[in-house]
Parts: sequence; C-alpha cells; structure tokens
Amino acid sequence: MMGAMTGPLDAISWPVRTERLTLRPATPDDVEATWRFRRLDVVSRWLTRAPGDLEAFRSHFEEPDRLAKTLVVELDGVVVGDLMLQVDDAWAQAEVAERAHGVQAELGWVLHPDHAGHGYATEAVRELIRLCFEVLGLRRVTANCFADNDASWRLMERVGMRREAYTVRESLHRSGEWLDGMGYALLADE
Ligand SMILES: CC(C)(COP(=O)(O)OP(=O)(O)OC[C@H]1O[C@@H](n2cnc3c(N)ncnc32)[C@H](O)[C@@H]1OP(=O)(O)O)[C@@H](O)C(=O)NCCC(=O)NCCS
Repeated sequence: MMGAMTGPLDAISWPVRTERLTLRPATPDDVEATWRFRRLDVVSRWLTRAPGDLEAFRSHFEEPDRLAKTLVVELDGVVVGDLMLQVDDAWAQAEVAERAHGVQAELGWVLHPDHAGHGYATEAVRELIRLCFEVLGLRRVTANCFADNDASWRLMERVGMRREAYTVRESLHRSGEWLDGMGYALLADE
C-alpha cells in the first residue's frame, strides 16, 4: 500500500478505531472501493464532482492534494465511506493574520447507501471532530451542504454543529438549477 499522507493529518496516529469503525488516510489503492459508492447517482448528486467512469475518478482521487485530506471509513475491513478533513486559515485582519493560519478545518463525508441508517456516519464524524479539537488543536470546524441535502444537515445537527448560514440560490447544481446552501460550524470550546 502506498503511503500518501503529507500535511496536518500526519500529526494523528493512524488507524483510529471507534466502536464499530476504523478511520485511516486514503491511499491510491482505495480508489475502486471508493468508486463503488461515489459512482451512484444518489451519492454524487450532492457532491462537487460526478466523474463519468473509474478512470476519470481515479485521476482526481490520486491528486496528492486530494489524497492528503481524504480518510476512508472501514466497517469489518471494507471501505464503506470517506471523509474530508481540510485544514484552513481563518479570515483575519492583516496585522494578526499569522495567528489565524491553519486554525480551522472544513469537513466532508460520504457513506455507501447500503450502510445508511445505522449511525455509521455520525460515529465517524464525531471521531473526526474529536481528532480536530483534541489532537490537531484546531479551534473551529465547518461543513457546507445544499439546503436540500437533508441527510447531510441532519448529520451536522446530530454531531452538535450549529447552522450559521442559510444562503439563497447561491450554488449552481449540475442540473442547471441555482440552489440554496447551508453552512454549519462548531467551536472547540463548545
Ligand atoms: C450524508 C450521509 C453521510 C448521511 O448518512 P446517514 O446514514 O443518514 O447517517 P448515519 O450513518 O449517521 O445514520 C443516521 C441514521 O441512522 C439512525 N441510527 C441508527 N443507529 C444509530 C446510531 N447508533 N447513532 C446515530 N444514528 C443512528 C439515525 O436515526 C438516522 O436515521 P434517520 O436518518 O432516519 O433519522 C449520507 O446520506 C451520504 O453519504 N449522502 C451522499 C453524500 C453526501 O451528500 N455527502 C455530503 C455532501 S455535503
């Protein structure tokens, strides 16, 4: 298996186990397992990209910047989902910008629909948030979704994130429609 991690996630000792799941950095070898659920319309309909075939997916999946922020979620040794953990700078005024470097993370998640409805995404994301705050020492985590993506914003609320933004027809969906969006966040001291 090729090691692919470079960046903030190196600070975490992998794999990380939860009650039912194992989280670990994605490697190029995970492309086919990940494609099994990302290829499904019910999944890709909400995602930034919907590649037409495995090769198109692979070329994006293998980009070092993308791999470096991607984790996979295993259930009984099988990859059933993936997570994004992208460490970002907070907005800051110029004089204090240095103190705002790398202090927050944007999170993302995908679960194979065959495994929906058992709380696996909740379990994985709760652990991801714990890692962000307790191991990486970040001060804030955020996540965004289309407002119509009920499963995703319900997950954000289950893990205790707060709805901080509701944006009106600001995001263009590949259907051609401009859709509403929502932004959620949680602070470490909450
Ligand atoms: C968003 C997504 C990850 C949520 O998956 P999910 O299966 O709804 O979430 P969980 O795995 O946490 O399961 C929660 C469900 O299991 C139930 N559940 C059962 N046991 C549970 C447990 N131990 N803990 C928590 N929930 C449990 C919950 O009640 C909930 O059911 P409900 O939706 O009927 O209320 C999934 O819908 C998905 O991958 N969507 C496509 C990709 C996507 O949109 N990604 C986000 C882009 S912004």
